[in-house]
Amino acid sequence: MLKQINRLLVNNKVRFTSYVFIDSVVRVALFIIQALVIKSVVDSVIENNSEKLIISIICFVILVGLISVLGPISNYGMVKVIKKAIYRLKYDVFSMLTNLDIGFFDNHTDGDLISISLNDIEYVEHILYSISSLIFAILFGATSMVMMFILSWELTIIIVIVQFAYTIGVKKLSRNLTVYNQEVVRKRGKLNQIIVSTIDSLDYIKTSQLEKYWISKFESLDNSYIAVQKNLLRINKNISSLGILVEGLNLAIIIIIGMYVLKMGTDGIGSLMAIFQLQTGVSLLFESVNRIYLDLKTSKVSFDRINMILDEPVESIEKSIYKDRKSEEYVIKIRNLEFSYSGISENIFNNFNLDVKRGEIIGIVGESGVGKSTLVKLLLGYYEAYNGNIKLYGHDISRISTHNLRKWIAFSPQKTYLFDGTVMENIQFGNLDATENQIYEATKLTQAHDFILELCDGYNTKLRNNGQNLSEGQKHRIGLARALITNCETIIFDEPTASLDKITSFEFVKELKEYCKDKTVILISHDSHLTSSLDRIVDLANYKL
Ligand SMILES: Nc1ncnc2c1ncn2[C@@H]1O[C@H](COP(=O)(O)OP(=O)(O)O)[C@@H](O)[C@H]1O
Ligand SMILES: [Mg+2]
Repeated sequence: MLKQINRLLVNNKVRFTSYVFIDSVVRVALFIIQALVIKSVVDSVIENNSEKLIISIICFVILVGLISVLGPISNYGMVKVIKKAIYRLKYDVFSMLTNLDIGFFDNHTDGDLISISLNDIEYVEHILYSISSLIFAILFGATSMVMMFILSWELTIIIVIVQFAYTIGVKKLSRNLTVYNQEVVRKRGKLNQIIVSTIDSLDYIKTSQLEKYWISKFESLDNSYIAVQKNLLRINKNISSLGILVEGLNLAIIIIIGMYVLKMGTDGIGSLMAIFQLQTGVSLLFESVNRIYLDLKTSKVSFDRINMILDEPVESIEKSIYKDRKSEEYVIKIRNLEFSYSGISENIFNNFNLDVKRGEIIGIVGESGVGKSTLVKLLLGYYEAYNGNIKLYGHDISRISTHNLRKWIAFSPQKTYLFDGTVMENIQFGNLDATENQIYEATKLTQAHDFILELCDGYNTKLRNNGQNLSEGQKHRIGLARALITNCETIIFDEPTASLDKITSFEFVKELKEYCKDKTVILISHDSHLTSSLDRIVDLANYKL
């Protein structure tokens, strides 16, 4: 845990500790001065010593003035360091999410990943604040304890024993905290997930009138989320009760001893009042140690989840040895490919071989689920755990940097994702250097140009929420244009015509052949008629056992 916090603060440890230390010293000083002034004022009133009274008040005013300047400065510095560490952590988690192996996302839901990126990081921020209060409590508590000990060692020992008993009680009461918290975090991920998937599938939910079913599903998830939260609340409630009990016990002890002192005369009243003030410091010390113990137990789950992302192996971007393409006759050569998704025993590919010549336009066909999209993912290096050999431009893809691999092959996925931004910007993601003419040529080929011009702002029309304001076919045509404008010599289209009508589809393939005559093209389709005009067709069904 300390290692994790250490890692979080990276090279800000010294700054963080200094600010926390100054902040704590300032706050401790304020309390101690108050205690001393109370003692001094009471004593001087009893002694009828007005000179002592005035000096005490002046000292108090000067010191409080100093503290009022120093305190906020160090506190501001400390908060800034914490905010910076959290900013860095958010950045690291987000960049990891974009660099992780695709396989990672097969095993984690969107809801859980959102929960880690936002909620768990908030917990971690909370723990940093707790640490800063702990340092204050240690300084304050220790100083208070020493001063109290000087004033009355018997009373100090009794109060410390009570506080120790309190700490043991807290430890016992919080036995199941981590387990409950793991449950809470897991359920929160599920709640996030249902919200994400509901928004994604709202059209379908409405047309199928599944609203009631969906709401009741949400309700039952939320109920079980609240149920596990109740367990945490119960622990907190019991600990709070114990805390109040201990506080009362402390006061009772001081009052009883105070009465004893009063019987002995007025000499001890000043000390007794100072002890009243100082015992809050001792209580705070134990309270804070207990609190941080609980917080560390709670945030351990968050730390572990964040680290699960941070420690995940990223795509080996720098594995490259090969930077240049060989001028081979074959762009793609696959030998004895064997692959299955992790956790699934059945192989998608068994002993699969494929050669694609430079300049060829081939069709890959096969019924849905046969492995067409998986083949592309393997070619793009998304999954590395396969047997056999995949060569691209003469090099084994496991030795080509991911950056080059994806620079050499353009890919138009089965499902087009459109980002928030204009239509033009969305197409330009394919090639930021593409000229307007290149873009128009591509959109004409994918038959997107005309409908784009009819949009309210033409190419400058803003798209939101994955192109909500466009039809699936229109979205896909923008996606196809995006792939066409890349400079890559090889382009893979996964089901490019799935959302185009038959005539448009045939026309698209015809024009594509013309447009890509200098390129190598793989066109994946479940429609074998469509690919009949291509140079060659590979039917994946033939490779199934
Ligand atoms: N991420 C994944 N994890 C586990 N199984 C998967 C994953 N993606 C696809 N599959 C399975 O692999 C098989 C091939 O899928 P895919 O390559 O998408 O087929 P298609 O030929 O329709 O493109 C299917 O049985 C599918 O269920
Ligand atoms: Mg597919």
